[in-house]
Amino acid sequence: MYLKDKKILIGITGSIAAYKIADLVRRLTEQQAQVRVVMTQAAMQFITPLTMQAVSGHKVYTDLLDAEAEAAMGHIELARWADIVLIAPASADFMARLTHGLADDLLSTLCLATTAPIAIAPAMNQQMWKAPATQANCQTLQQRGVHFFGPASGLQACGEDGLGRMLEPFDIIDCLHQHFTSQILAGKHIVITAGPTREDIDPVRFISNRSSGKMGYAIAKAAQLSGANVTLVSGQTCLSKPPKVNTIDVYSAQDMYESVMQYIEQADIFIATAAVADYQPKQQATQKIKKTQEAMSIELSKTTDILASVGHMQNKPFVVGFAAETNNVEAYAKDKMVRKNLDMIAANLVGVENAGFESDHNALTVYWPDGQQVLPHCTKTELAHHLIKVIAQRYEQSK
Ligand code: PMT
Repeated sequence: MYLKDKKILIGITGSIAAYKIADLVRRLTEQQAQVRVVMTQAAMQFITPLTMQAVSGHKVYTDLLDAEAEAAMGHIELARWADIVLIAPASADFMARLTHGLADDLLSTLCLATTAPIAIAPAMNQQMWKAPATQANCQTLQQRGVHFFGPASGLQACGEDGLGRMLEPFDIIDCLHQHFTSQILAGKHIVITAGPTREDIDPVRFISNRSSGKMGYAIAKAAQLSGANVTLVSGQTCLSKPPKVNTIDVYSAQDMYESVMQYIEQADIFIATAAVADYQPKQQATQKIKKTQEAMSIELSKTTDILASVGHMQNKPFVVGFAAETNNVEAYAKDKMVRKNLDMIAANLVGVENAGFESDHNALTVYWPDGQQVLPHCTKTELAHHLIKVIAQRYEQSK
């Protein structure tokens, strides 16, 4: 969402990691960012301008003295056009040339001519990265305000292991998101519950619900990108752990309650997105229950209400609940807000097409004691960013 319409000028320099930039550009265009590509002569030894033109959908710029290119978008115009100049991969040689302010090719000239922020994703052999010259260049560039995305550590193309690998495309996208997202929750610790819980009947069967965890994971990611330190307490889902989020896997409502209580003392904000089972079997059979009776009933007892427990804590954080309803959404949500002593509640319709459980999309209406806000029907990723904005505003006003 935060990359939509952002103008990203990618400078590719000579490194084997250049092949990954085709994937990076594809992902950026999927997120509706506007991408233009500039390549150095060395970069073209690793990937062709034709490939980059195909994935970006635009002419690729390679020469400083190219009359045809200058007639379309000249180097000064390109430098002015960009919201950010991202050098990826950035070789040790290019970093050195940038440090010294050389302007002997299109990319180095652009870097001198732009007022946009410059970000660098270094890619080089671990010894080259460690070399005093590279480290000194890195320090100088950082002092001038150049952002560094990575490098990462790991096995390198040369067979060595260490710091110097270019970040993977999705990690670079994360850094771009972070760059363009205002850090409205900087320094705040947020605990979020997500996904379903499972309440065992016997070793084979359990009671659960349709939650996929998508809404909670999207909120965790949006909070992390907004600068928060996030602990995500998650029931069983098929989703991969969001990067830079402390994810705690739990199984049952009781496990979730215990994990939340372990982290809640340090939390500034608690967001309960999980679809926690309201009831659990009173007894769990230790062996598989056999199919001998025509009918059977299972006695259930209430699970601990995690949200209400946090809401009634003496030094409670700012508490945001969710309400999943099939009808009377507003009335039921407001009732939960009062009963569980919440600062806010986000209500959504479930059991409908293209929203609620499992869907990639959702819509929410957020209520607080003296106000409300309707958040639009959109992807859960976009919705999470809208919600985090409202939570940050309400949290600030509550202090
Ligand atoms: O996971 P997805 O597939 O993306 O779907 C998202 C969602 C529909 C699950 C999510 O948007 C949502 O609505 N989550 C809350 C689901 C729910 O259990 O709502 P509820 O109205 O039954 O519970 C009210 C609140 O109390 C919730 O914040 C719930 O987390 C909390 N609760 C409930 C019972 C309990 N024992 N402990 C709790 O903390």
